[in-house]
Amino acid sequence: MDLDAKIEEVKAAFEKDAATLPPEQLRTRYVGREGKVRDLFALLKGLPPDLKGPAGQKLNALTAELERRTGEILSSRPAAAAGEAFDLTLPGRAPEPGRRHPIYRTWDGIARVFMKLGFDVVYGPEIETEQNNFEALNIPLEHPSRDAFDTFYVERPYVLRSHTSPVQIRTMKERKPPIRVIAPGKVFRPDKPDASHSPQFHQVEGLMVGPGVTFAQLKGVLDLFVKAMWGPETRTRFRPSFFPFTEPSAEVDVSCFICGAKGCSACKQSGWMEILGSGMVHPKVLENCGIDPEVNTGFAFGMGVERICMLKHGVPDIRLFTENHFAFLRQF
Ligand code: PHE
Repeated sequence: MDLDAKIEEVKAAFEKDAATLPPEQLRTRYVGREGKVRDLFALLKGLPPDLKGPAGQKLNALTAELERRTGEILSSRPAAAAGEAFDLTLPGRAPEPGRRHPIYRTWDGIARVFMKLGFDVVYGPEIETEQNNFEALNIPLEHPSRDAFDTFYVERPYVLRSHTSPVQIRTMKERKPPIRVIAPGKVFRPDKPDASHSPQFHQVEGLMVGPGVTFAQLKGVLDLFVKAMWGPETRTRFRPSFFPFTEPSAEVDVSCFICGAKGCSACKQSGWMEILGSGMVHPKVLENCGIDPEVNTGFAFGMGVERICMLKHGVPDIRLFTENHFAFLRQF
């Protein structure tokens, strides 16, 4: 028996198959338990004892070489190219198109209503001066909202703005009346997260300033807004309130659009839901911005976008907006 010739034969056959067979099959066919190298080992039985040793060594070397070659082929050939990674009968995976986040859809919806009423959209920085966030808005040093527990202080005199009202200050300093703007943006408060609180949320502030701007106009504009958001049957209710930067001030409620103001769990049986704060711009605030309060008056309002979105869509927990659950986000 010419073992060397048989070994060469097996090697040649291996290289030929290597061109077409996937590496896994190559291994089975050559070095597996029933492979061609095993067949050669079977031939050793017929050899005289003194030849068995060297012949066995040659076959072991052959096994090692073919194992090494299989390994080489496996690593040099991407699985896909070898044809085994594709199951062409499987259904395809369609990439899911992205969509706008519900908060930004609500923000857009709010902005669109006011843009139709002639309001410009303006923006301000998220890191503000204490001056713009508080003082210019007539919020005195001892006001509780200036406490470190209610405001994120960056480094004196900077804070993370706790509302978008500083944008009305910036706008009134830059523009001459008549002014009609809304200022949407992110705001920050060190609140412990729960179903209705989040340390970061969004607000839309509105401001209109000019000669003869009245509280009646504020009511009219906000009434148009709630009807555009929740339907023509929705009514508004103004409750006296207090903000340092407006006088008089009012909290605004809308009639519950879930139960039609009859009383349900969403409106806590009251028939009304609170949606925003508002009022006539305090004369001191106008003065702080170089606007003569004897000539001009103004109204302002501010609302939380998360709150509006939660009320509009029945979202039970503000944390859902930032937890990135597809099941939640896909609904919008
Ligand atoms: N800035 C107030 C807040 O964050 C909202 C507001 C804006 C109230 C404008 C009145 C006028 O709560």
